[in-house]
Amino acid sequence: MLGVVASAAGGVEQLRTGLVGPAIERGWRVAVTLTPTAAAWLRRTGEVARLETLTGLPVRDQPRFPDEARPHPPVTCFVLAPASANTVAKLAAGIADNQALTQLCEALGTIGLPVVVFPQVNAAHARHPAWQRHLTALRAADVRLIHGPDVWPLHEPRAHPAARELPWAAVLAAVEGATSS
Ligand SMILES: Cc1cc2nc3c(=O)[nH]c(=O)nc-3n(C[C@H](O)[C@H](O)[C@H](O)COP(=O)(O)O)c2cc1C
Repeated sequence: MLGVVASAAGGVEQLRTGLVGPAIERGWRVAVTLTPTAAAWLRRTGEVARLETLTGLPVRDQPRFPDEARPHPPVTCFVLAPASANTVAKLAAGIADNQALTQLCEALGTIGLPVVVFPQVNAAHARHPAWQRHLTALRAADVRLIHGPDVWPLHEPRAHPAARELPWAAVLAAVEGATSS
C-alpha cells in the first residue's frame, strides 16, 4: 500500500494521471490524502471523485473522529508530491495541523517507513532564509528528496513555463528504489 499525499502546489491537478494511475499500473494499491487546500482545489474539478473511483478508497483531508475506524489501511511507503513550500516547512518543523501532515510527521519518526518528497517550489521559496534548514531536517530523517537542477530547475515566481509537467517518473523511481530491498 502506497500512501500518496499532496498539497496545494501547481501540478497537483496531474496527481491522478501522473502518479496515482502509474503507481497502480505498477502493482501498488494507493491511499490518497490531501491538505485541506489541495482537497478544495481537486474537489472543485471532480478529481477527488475520480481518485476515489480509481483507488477504491476515500480521499482523506480531515482527521477521523476517535471512535471512527481508520479510513486507510497501513502503508509501506509515503510519497508527498507535489509538496508546497508551506507543507515542507511544517513537515520539517513537525507541525501536524492537518491530516496530511499528521500522517507525514508520524512517518518521519517511524522506523523502516520510507518517505519520498518532491518540493514543488520556485526560486523565491528556495531563497527563504529557513529553506535550507528545512531540507537539512528532512534529510536527517532519511527523506528521499526529489530536487535539484536535473529534475526540477527553479524558476522565478510566475516565470514557470506553462503547463509544466512535474517529474513524476523521478518520483515513482524514488518510491520503487525506497521499497525494493
Ligand atoms: C494557483 C496557485 C498555485 C500555487 N502553486 C504553488 C506552488 O507550486 N508551490 C508552492 O509552494 N505554493 C504554491 N501556491 C501557494 C500554496 O497553495 C499556499 O501556500 C497554500 O497555503 C499551501 O497550502 P498547503 O501546503 O496546506 O497545501 C500556489 C497557490 C495558487 C493559488
